[in-house]
Amino acid sequence: MTAMHGEEHPLTGSLMEDHEVILRALERLEERMREWRASGRVDPEPLRRFVSFARTFIDRCHHGKEERCLFPCLERRGIPREGGPIGVMLYEHQVGRELVARLEGLLRALESGDSGAAAGVLATCEEYVNLLRDHIRKENLVLFPMGESVARVGDASEVGRCYENVEEVEVGHGVHERFRKMADEI
Ligand SMILES: [Fe+2]
Ligand SMILES: [Fe+2]
Repeated sequence: MTAMHGEEHPLTGSLMEDHEVILRALERLEERMREWRASGRVDPEPLRRFVSFARTFIDRCHHGKEERCLFPCLERRGIPREGGPIGVMLYEHQVGRELVARLEGLLRALESGDSGAAAGVLATCEEYVNLLRDHIRKENLVLFPMGESVARVGDASEVGRCYENVEEVEVGHGVHERFRKMADEI
C-alpha cells in the first residue's frame, strides 16, 4: 500500500492500491486485444496469464478482501447490503466470476485448436474490462468514501488484519508481490 493511500484512506487504501494494479492489468489486456484483432488470431499465452491474474489476484484476493473484510465492517456501520451499494458490488463480483469462467472455457477451446473461439474471447474480454472499470470507479468514488466517513476508531486496524489474512491464505506469503508484477507482464 502506498503511504498516501494508507494515510488518507485508512480503511480502503489497500483496496485502492489493488485497484491501480488491476487497472494496469486491464490496460495490458486491451493492448493484447488490439494485437489479436489486427492479426486475426488470439495468442493463448497472454490470455492464460490474464485468466490466472483475474482468478487469483482480482477475484480470490481482492474481491475476497472486500467481501470478507470491508463489506461486513460497512454493514455493521449501517450501510445496507440488500437494495444498497454493497448488494450491487456483490452482484458485479458474481458477474465477473461468470465472465472469467467463460474465458477459461474459451481458452481451453483455443488450446484444443478451435480458432472459432477467438471472437468469443474478444467479446468476453471487452465485457470484463468494461464491468471492472465501471465497478472500480463506483467503489473509489462512492462506496469507499462513504465507508471512510462511517468508520469508527479501531475499524481500520481490524479490517487491515483481515486483509493481511486473506492475502496470506488466498495468494500466499510473498506471492501477492509476484501478482502485482504480473499485472504489467500480461
Ligand atoms: Fe469490488
Ligand atoms: Fe474493488
